[in-house]
Amino acid sequence: MLTSLRYLTGTAGPSGFGSRATAEEVTAACPDLRHITVIITGATSGIGAETARVLAKHGARLVLPARSLKAAEEARTRLLAECSAADVVVLPLDLSSLASVRRFAARFLALGLPLNLLINNAGKFADRLAVSDDGVEMTFATNYLGHFLLTRLLMEKMVETARMTGVEGRIVNVSSTVHSWFAGDDAVGYLDLVTRRKIPYDPTRAYALSKLANVLHTRALADRLKELKANVTANCVHPGIVRTRLIRERDGLVTNTVFFLASKLLKSIHQAAATTCYVAVHPAVAGVSGKYLADCNEASPSRLGSSDEEATKLWSFSEGVVAERKNESINVTSFRFQVQSSNFDDYTPQEMQKPRKRMAAN
Ligand SMILES: NC(=O)c1ccc[n+]([C@@H]2O[C@H](COP(=O)([O-])OP(=O)(O)OC[C@H]3O[C@@H](n4cnc5c(N)ncnc54)[C@H](OP(=O)(O)O)[C@@H]3O)[C@@H](O)[C@H]2O)c1
Repeated sequence: MLTSLRYLTGTAGPSGFGSRATAEEVTAACPDLRHITVIITGATSGIGAETARVLAKHGARLVLPARSLKAAEEARTRLLAECSAADVVVLPLDLSSLASVRRFAARFLALGLPLNLLINNAGKFADRLAVSDDGVEMTFATNYLGHFLLTRLLMEKMVETARMTGVEGRIVNVSSTVHSWFAGDDAVGYLDLVTRRKIPYDPTRAYALSKLANVLHTRALADRLKELKANVTANCVHPGIVRTRLIRERDGLVTNTVFFLASKLLKSIHQAAATTCYVAVHPAVAGVSGKYLADCNEASPSRLGSSDEEATKLWSFSEGVVAERKNESINVTSFRFQVQSSNFDDYTPQEMQKPRKRMAAN
C-alpha cells in the first residue's frame, strides 16, 4: 500500500530518488564516466537505448551488442548525433544462441578493452512457443540463459579490470516485477515441460519465469563474487512499466485499452532507465550486491526470488546447459571477416587503445 502510494506520488525513498526520477537526474552525481567501459545489451531501443544515451553523455565508452547490424549502426548514429565525442563500439550478438554469445565474448576479449560495467538489459516477450538452436524455450534462452553465459564469459575480465583500476565493477540484470507472477516451486521443471511441449505455452508465464531467473541469477552471482573477494557487485532491477517495443508489439484492442486506462501509471523512457543507471554508476550503491531495486530503492523480490535453494538449482542447471556446448570451436578470424565485410567494424584493437579525448557532457 505504502509502496503504491509512494510510486503514484513519486515520493523519494531512502536513496533520495523515487519513481519519477530520470536517468539524467540519478547520474548527475557522477558527471565524469570517461574511465568506464560498459557493455549494454538491448541498446537498440527502449530502456537500453536511453541507458546508453545517458551513460554516453557522461563519457562512458559503450560496447553495444546487437543481433541486427543495421539497428546497431542506427543506434550508434543516434548516439553520435547527440553526443559527437561518444565512443561507441558495436558488435553482433544474438542472445538466444549460446554460440553467438561465445563469439561475441571472444570478439570483445580480443579487443583488449577493460570492462567495468555489464548491463544485461535485452529482453523479449514471445507470443508463441519457439525453441532456440540450443533446445531451450526462446524467452528464457534470450532473457536469461544468453545473459548467464555472457556474464560467465566476461566475469574474469571484470574482476581483472576492477583489480587493475581499483574501480568497482558492477553487473546489472534488468528483471521485472512480473518475476513475482511465476507461480509454482519448480522453475526448472516448468521450463523442461514447456520446452518439450508437455504443457501448453503461456507467454506471460514464460516471460515471468525468465525474469525470475534474472533475479535468481543475481543472487547466486553476488554470492560467487563475494566468495572470490572480487571488487565486482551484481544487482537486479525492475525498471517500471513503460510503453517500449516490448509492449507495443502486443498492440490490440485489449492491450491498448488497458494501457490507455493505465497511462498515468506508466513511466516515461527517461524514468524507466533511472534505476538501471542508478545501480550502474551512483556512488551510494558502492558495495551493495545481491539486491533487487525498483524506483532507485531497494525492494523485495518474490518468495521464490528470495530462495537461495532455487538460485543454486538454477545455477547448476544453467552450468549444465552451457557446459554441454563448451567444446564448440570459436573461429574469431572468420567472425572478424564477417563483421568487416558488413562494414560493421570500424574499430581495431589498436584504435581502442588510443588515449581518449576529453569530453564535455552535453
Ligand atoms: N517495457 C517495460 O514495461 C518493462 C518492464 C519491466 C521490465 N522490462 C525489461 O526491460 C528490458 C528492456 O526492455 P524494453 O522495454 O526496453 O524493450 P524493447 O524496446 O523491446 O528492447 C529490447 C531490446 O532487446 C533486444 N533483443 C531482443 N532479443 C534479442 C536477442 N535475441 N539478442 C540480442 N538482443 C535482443 C532488442 O534488440 P532488437 O533491436 O534486435 O530487437 C532491443 O534492443 C527487458 O529486459 C524487459 O524485460 C521492461
